[in-house]
Amino acid sequence: MGFAALVHSPDFEGKEKHVPSMTLSDSAIGTVVTVQVGKDVLHPTTPEHHIEWVKVFGETQEGKIVEVATLTFGKGTSLPSGSIVIKKENYKSLTALSYCNLHGVWDNSLTL
Ligand SMILES: [Fe+2]
Repeated sequence: MGFAALVHSPDFEGKEKHVPSMTLSDSAIGTVVTVQVGKDVLHPTTPEHHIEWVKVFGETQEGKIVEVATLTFGKGTSLPSGSIVIKKENYKSLTALSYCNLHGVWDNSLTL
């Protein structure tokens, strides 16, 4: 079984608390990508149950997949949200993966 088979898509049961949403806004230095896990229903943030990290990948204009950023959170000590700044014109799309220590890996993509 490949890793892709283990990743939960945005419509999998439990999506409300686990899917990493991405919203874009302009800034003076580039496009701000704000990532939040559990945008509609707050995910638990306890030592026993928490989001450990979010990884953001980009598909370049040339069709290559590159890592854009990794956001790491304390084990139940910080809410799973953060922002990065990109040059939007460099990418066709972004994909974020979030990892819950109990419920696995979830993904979400955004076409730019
Ligand atoms: Fe969870």
